[in-house]
Amino acid sequence: MKHLNNLFEMKSNKEKISMVTAYDYPSAKQVEAAGIDTILVGDSLGMTVLGYESIVQVTLSDMIHHAKAVRRGAPDTFIVVDLPIGAVGINDESDLKNALKLYQATDANALKAEGAHLISFITKARAMGIPVVSHLGLTPQSVGVMGYKMQGATKEDALQLLNDAQAVKEAGAVILVLEAVPSDLAALISERLTIPVIGIGAGKATDGQVLIYHDMLNYGQDHHAKFVKQYGDFSQGVSALKHYHEEVRAGQFPSDAHTYKKQILGELE
Ligand code: KIV
Repeated sequence: MKHLNNLFEMKSNKEKISMVTAYDYPSAKQVEAAGIDTILVGDSLGMTVLGYESIVQVTLSDMIHHAKAVRRGAPDTFIVVDLPIGAVGINDESDLKNALKLYQATDANALKAEGAHLISFITKARAMGIPVVSHLGLTPQSVGVMGYKMQGATKEDALQLLNDAQAVKEAGAVILVLEAVPSDLAALISERLTIPVIGIGAGKATDGQVLIYHDMLNYGQDHHAKFVKQYGDFSQGVSALKHYHEEVRAGQFPSDAHTYKKQILGELE
C-alpha cells in the first residue's frame, strides 16, 4: 500500500499520482488490480450509485456503508473518504465526532473535506491524528451556491483560490484536490504547495489526476463534463441484459452447459 509519505515522495520526484473513485467491493477490487495509486470514496456516489439529483442528500451513514465495502475490495490501496455535506463545519465537537466516526469505521487513510471555510476543522482533525485532504475550486457540495462552473476564472477569484490553497496547507491538509480551475492557476498552486495537488478538470501540471469511475467507464452516466476522458464502455451492459431477456423468453437459457445434470428422481422412489 502507498502511504502518505510515498505520495509526498512521488510529488518531489515529479511522478504523477493516479486516483479514481470507487464506491463498492467490485469497483474497488478492479481499481486495486489496476495498480491505481489511490482511491477516493467520493460523495459523488449519491449520483453515480444512489441515483440522487445531487450529492446534497448523501449522509454519513451512506459514506460509511460504501467505504467499508471499498476497503474490503481494496485492502492494499490508500483510500480517501469524503465527509458529506453537513458532517463538518457545524461546531468543533460534532465535526470531530463525525470525522472520527468515519475514519474509525471505514479504516480510511484520510478524509476529504470541501471548502476553505474548514480551516479550523482541518487544524483540529490533524491535531487529533486524522489526515485531511482539502478540496477547493468547484466544490460539488456548494453547487447550489456556485453552480457547476469553472472556478478561479477572474483575477480576484484566482488570487482568492491561491490564498485558500496556502491556508488549507498551513492548517495541516495533507493533500489538495483542485476541481475545475484554469490550468495555469492549477500549475502555480501545485508548484507553490509542498503537499500533493490532485486535479480534476485542472490541466496536466498538477501532481496527480482523479476521475470518477462511472464517468471514465461510461457506466450509467448521461452527462460528461469537458474534462472527462472515457477509457471504457460499461454501457454495453444494456445489450447483454437485453440478450439475456430474449434468451429467457425464447427458452434458450439455461442451456445444458448451465444445468446440473444429476438425475435424482429415480432415487426418490
Ligand atoms: O465526490 C467526488 O467524487 C469528488 C471528485 C469529483 C473529486 O469529490
